Amino acid sequence: MKKRLTALTLALLLGLSVLLTACGGSAKGSAASSATASKEHPMILTLAHNQAENHPVHKALVRFADQVNERTDGRIVVKIYPNGQLGSENENLEQLQAGVVAMAKVSAPNLATYNDGYNTFGLPYIFNDQADYYRVMDSQQMDDFFMSSADDGFLTMTYYDSGSRSFYTKGKAIRTPSDLDGLKIRVQDMAVQTDMMKALGGTPVTMSYGDVYTSLQTGIIDGSENNVTALTTGKHGEVAKYYSVDEHEMIPDALVMSSKVWSTLSAEDQAAVKAAAKASTEYQKELWAEATEKAVEQARQEMGVTFVYDVDKAAFQAATAPMIQTYEDKYPGVKRLMQSIEQ
Ligand code: GCU
Repeated sequence: MKKRLTALTLALLLGLSVLLTACGGSAKGSAASSATASKEHPMILTLAHNQAENHPVHKALVRFADQVNERTDGRIVVKIYPNGQLGSENENLEQLQAGVVAMAKVSAPNLATYNDGYNTFGLPYIFNDQADYYRVMDSQQMDDFFMSSADDGFLTMTYYDSGSRSFYTKGKAIRTPSDLDGLKIRVQDMAVQTDMMKALGGTPVTMSYGDVYTSLQTGIIDGSENNVTALTTGKHGEVAKYYSVDEHEMIPDALVMSSKVWSTLSAEDQAAVKAAAKASTEYQKELWAEATEKAVEQARQEMGVTFVYDVDKAAFQAATAPMIQTYEDKYPGVKRLMQSIEQ
């Protein structure tokens, strides 16, 4: 509760400073458009996200901020608020729509609230492996999709690798979907993840990333699902001791900007921001490879987590496969994006 109040207060304060700027107040020095920005009175882009400062995504965002600054000669400053300081990812997106923050890093399917095509990224087993995933995510078609949602209030500048997600629990290994029977598993607050859990037979409990650690500790949930960094930078491995490698989803993170803010950037500054974003993705891929290798070692050796590899992946895949058709039928955006991925 205390954390939520702090997040709210901060969001309100930030909102006030944005309003002041919009009303001509320049106490914070943020220029209203990049055309009038200068090194002395830069345009300030607030960026909210939920990862810790030692997480590869945060490090990539710092690289992004540095490069934006460099490429615009200090006229645009990206100010990062990490650790969920400004609330959950869904709250950050509401703030983005309301003009309280300019940018956010969120798990891609969270954006489905505003553009149904983003459901695609939460569908189980749609990529064969990492090479396939990179090929699709780095394609021109994907970038066209990322830059097509101005009318929905946001544009995706780039994506970050968030690996593959698997189940981890306090008390037992998950080798087949039936092992999930009777377990309360935290999922992200998005329809596609709730549907996946239902298809597999566990009980989905939605909550934000920031609430998972305490909920594992107090027994509100029996487990969760995420990539391996959740065990270490998220500290979940202190409580959950079985990580079962079923790799049901490869959900990218998305770096989004308010389309209103984007439209206040000159064409040159738009190109600078976009180039900085793309470069930070390449940097993050390197960090990701190192960080995930280290996370497995650290979780195993320092936290006593058992990694379970003899998992019946085919059973997980079979149980969730019908979701793809259901989502394609329900969401025209998913159908279009899936067609382009399949190509
Ligand atoms: C991943 C992802 C985050 C997301 C988190 C979650 O770590 O990178 O963006 O918030 O999963 O499960 O909520």
